[in-house]
Amino acid sequence: MKARQIIRTSILGSLVLVTACAQLKRSVQSIGTAPAAPHLQKHGTVAQLVVDGKPFLLLGGEVHNSSSSSVAYMKPVWPRLAKMHLNTVLVPVSWEQVEPREGQFDFSVVDGLLTDARRNDLRLVLLWMGSWKNSTSRYEADWVKTDQARFPRVIDRDGKPLEILSTFNENTRNADAKAFASLMRHVKEVDSHQRTVIMIQMQNEVGVLGDSRDHSSAANDAFAKPVPSELVDYLQKNKDTLLPEFRKVWDDAGSKVSGTWEDVFGKGTRTDEIFMAWNYARFMNAIVEAGKAEYSLPTFVNAWIVQPEDKGPGDYPSGGPQAQNHDLYRAGAPAIDILAPDIYLPDFPGILAMYSRSANPVLIPESRAGGGGAANAFFAVGQFGAIGYSPFGIDGLPDEEGPFPRAYSVLDQLSPLILEHQGKGTIGAVWLSQQKPSQKIVLGNYTVNIEPPRNRNAPINTSAPIGGYALVINTGPDEYVVAGSGVQITFYVKPPATGIVGLTKVEEGTFKNGQWLPGRRLNGDEVQLRYDLSAAAADGLSGSGLRFNANTGPTIQRVSLHVYK
Ligand code: DGJ
Repeated sequence: MKARQIIRTSILGSLVLVTACAQLKRSVQSIGTAPAAPHLQKHGTVAQLVVDGKPFLLLGGEVHNSSSSSVAYMKPVWPRLAKMHLNTVLVPVSWEQVEPREGQFDFSVVDGLLTDARRNDLRLVLLWMGSWKNSTSRYEADWVKTDQARFPRVIDRDGKPLEILSTFNENTRNADAKAFASLMRHVKEVDSHQRTVIMIQMQNEVGVLGDSRDHSSAANDAFAKPVPSELVDYLQKNKDTLLPEFRKVWDDAGSKVSGTWEDVFGKGTRTDEIFMAWNYARFMNAIVEAGKAEYSLPTFVNAWIVQPEDKGPGDYPSGGPQAQNHDLYRAGAPAIDILAPDIYLPDFPGILAMYSRSANPVLIPESRAGGGGAANAFFAVGQFGAIGYSPFGIDGLPDEEGPFPRAYSVLDQLSPLILEHQGKGTIGAVWLSQQKPSQKIVLGNYTVNIEPPRNRNAPINTSAPIGGYALVINTGPDEYVVAGSGVQITFYVKPPATGIVGLTKVEEGTFKNGQWLPGRRLNGDEVQLRYDLSAAAADGLSGSGLRFNANTGPTIQRVSLHVYK
């Protein structure tokens, strides 16, 4: 053999050996030491999602209701979503497709979705469309839809059946639980080594629409019985931490610890709602438990939240996981990990405040894309330590380059830093609005002042649209990484310290694999906000600060500061 040939042969031999070793390592990992299944883990004051043994920031998008029923329909969608910098896609999986005949399962669509998601390096959240979707029952198996004797419907106060499966029936609960458990057994078989599926949504926006409660005879019987002891025990044990609006209903009815639903909570539609919330929670808890017994993944339910025009429960789905019902879900459905709001209303910060009480982890499975969605996503992960964000109808988003994909690109770059700082008091975010056009966050040694861009020291024009946002991370004693759009930012010393804050160094740039890659060094017009220096000094400011243009979408800057006196 010639020397060249010998070298080539030995290189080839080593390559074969290296490949064989890598394969062996992977199969050893998959037998013994593969990372645990995705799970939730406490990090400071928040809960994070852990995937492949590492915290994971879910940059999601939910496809339209029927898209994921067809593998072929989804084929061209996946690469577009990956291009938009999503890392996770929320896809409905329907009972009607996985169990077309009772006891006969067909997971071909699920398998197709998994294969194509993996090809595009995307994770999945499966939305289990079993008994309910937006209150109604339309996704359950055909053999369930057509057998109303075995699977009865909700009856309204006038005796009319509604297109909603009743929670007061074990056949329905057991059949749904069996189907869901089969799905989870299958997901474990085909995915526990690759962990493409990272979370489950149980049903979709449950509750009774059209009436405040089910008036079927089974429901009426349950309503006339004593409140179950599990709920009464929970009330007594958690008396001091019950959410105020729920505690008030109980207190107003005399804080009784026994009696019928109307004895304990009083007469009225609020009691109907409490009764339904308990029953939806118990029903779904049984299904989630059956699924987790096969393969335990973090599980959430999503709420159709109360709309301003709603007059009472039934205008919105009565008994869903709305904020006022959280205690009932905590008591009745401990297997459900997160009670998540679908947010299409403008007061995004106010709604997050309501849905993050009692240490409920923050996840927004449905909201908006566009510039407003970008602001929402920044605010949720920066200010509320959210696990993730997901606009609805992502496959219909026309623009792969618009402000929303750009926001996800920035959040993706920042995700190691965001995950490190969430829940530790070193990260914050603001979302400017007409009502709150200028906002401050105290982080580390400085107060960060965020406001709309303005001409020198001209007053903020609150009649113009305001929608800027910023996420600020305190990365060192005098250092911040800031990302934002449509804002200008100045810094004050935090009292009792005194002095004026100067910008030592400002860079714009990007992160790649957690490494800062500086671009332009920013100075001059790019940081000088005003020239009336004496007036600025009287305001405690140097006159310079950070500018984030609204037109370019969010960008990242890194700034170090000093104080002069
Ligand atoms: C909320 C639902 O949860 C979604 O499935 C979808 O129907 C949207 N509404 C439509 O806006």
